Amino acid sequence: MARVKVGVLISGRGSNLKALIEAARDPAYPAEIAHVISNRPDAPGLDYAEDHGIATEVIDHTRFAGRPGFEAALTDSLTSAGVELVCLAGFMRVLTAEFVDQWANRVLNIHPSLLPAFPGTDTHRQALAAGVTITGCTVHLVSEAVDGGPIVGQAAVPVHPGDTPDTLGARVRAAEHRLYPHCLAQMAAGKVRVIGHGVEIADRTVPDGVLYNPGV
Ligand code: GAR
Repeated sequence: MARVKVGVLISGRGSNLKALIEAARDPAYPAEIAHVISNRPDAPGLDYAEDHGIATEVIDHTRFAGRPGFEAALTDSLTSAGVELVCLAGFMRVLTAEFVDQWANRVLNIHPSLLPAFPGTDTHRQALAAGVTITGCTVHLVSEAVDGGPIVGQAAVPVHPGDTPDTLGARVRAAEHRLYPHCLAQMAAGKVRVIGHGVEIADRTVPDGVLYNPGV
C-alpha cells in the first residue's frame, strides 16, 4: 500500500506531532510522516522527529521580509519532500489566502476547542471565562478564515470544577492525541469529501470520545 506523504508544521512542544508519528509507526496506517518543519529553531518537537529518522527543517519566519517569502520557502520544502498532505500541529503562524489556495483541501489543523467556539489564542482561558461545562478539540481543513474551514472531527472533553487553563489544557491535549491521528487517517485514506463548508466522511467508525461533525 502506498502511504500518503505528510508534512507536519510545528512551532513548539510537538506533542501532536509525536501522536502522529506514533500512529504512523503502524504499517497499516495510511499516512507516513515524511517531513517536519518548524518556524522556531528551538522547537522541542524537532528532536523527537529526528530521533525517529524523520527529515526536519527549520524555516525561521523572522528571516523573511514578509509572509509570501516565508510561505514560498515552506512550499518549496514541502514539495521537494514529496508531501501530499500538510498537518499544522501547534503551528502558530497565520497563513495567507495564496498559500491556502495553493494547498486547498490538503492542509489540516488542530485547535483546542469545539470550534466555532473560542477561536484564536488563550482558548482554555476563554472557555473557563465563558463557564462552559464541555469543551474539546477540533480537526479542520484550513481555509482563509483563521480557525475556520470544514470540520473533519471533534472530541468533547468535560470541564471540571477548579480547572485552570493548564489542567483543562492537559485534558484537551490528551483528546487531541487521539483525534488528530484518527482524522489524518480518514483524510489519507480518501474518506473525507469536502462539500461546501462541510465534509462528508465515508466511514464513520469512531473511537470512544471522538464525535464527528454531524455532516453536511
Ligand atoms: C495544541 O493544543 C493545539 O491544539 C494548539 O496548540 C497546541 C500545540 O501543542 N493549536 C492552536 O492553538 C492553533 N490555533 P503541541 O505542540 O504539544 O502539539
